Amino acid sequence: MIIAPSMLVADFARLGQEARALELAGADWLHWDVMDGHFVPNLTHGALPIRACREHSDLTFNAHLMISEPLRYLDDFVEAGADIITAHIEAQDDAGQFLEAVRDAGRRPALAISPDTPPEAIAELLPLCEMITVMGVHPGFAGQQFIEGTIARTAQVRRLIEQSGREAHIQVDGGVGTENIHELCQAGADVIVSGSFILRHPDGYAEAIRQLRALE
Ligand code: DX5
Ligand code: ZN
Repeated sequence: MIIAPSMLVADFARLGQEARALELAGADWLHWDVMDGHFVPNLTHGALPIRACREHSDLTFNAHLMISEPLRYLDDFVEAGADIITAHIEAQDDAGQFLEAVRDAGRRPALAISPDTPPEAIAELLPLCEMITVMGVHPGFAGQQFIEGTIARTAQVRRLIEQSGREAHIQVDGGVGTENIHELCQAGADVIVSGSFILRHPDGYAEAIRQLRALE
């Protein structure tokens, strides 16, 4: 199981140290929640924090673009050092063009689907994707309640990937914690994002990650 803490819940006054602390605590990737206040009703940050932290961490950086027109801003995230660049299928008319542009830039392309989007929507794009992100919450905020239907949606995406004969990660993002990680793994998730469970855990990042790994 790949564990990717969401930096949205980190201390933005100490992002570099937070990136290092999460690496030492056992995180595999760092998840960056980019929101434009248009595609989602919240405004967080662009590529700058990713660029600022790039030299402080050797972890894989996944930029989760919850923005309209992701293709228009792609170069910013490539230049900032994002390794995996995820955009929402709902945010663009031609997701294939985005995925190909990410690949052409030498980065790893991924698509995210929000809770109301049928998993079948990504079927024809699977050949262009290294990862599918299944949202466990409606995108926009950390700390939301996990949507239980996410487990079945994760299993549907796993079946679509198997039918395609391709390899692709399934990342579940939003509301993940000890109460649902095992079922998500059983359903086919191999990457989980956690903001609140890890970064607000009373016993610290390492203990939170240890608890998640114990249940995968
Ligand atoms: C929601 C984001 C998620 C979220 C994760 O729009 O994409 O990455 O911040 O935080 P938790 O784990 O608290 O739901
Ligand atoms: Zn996210």
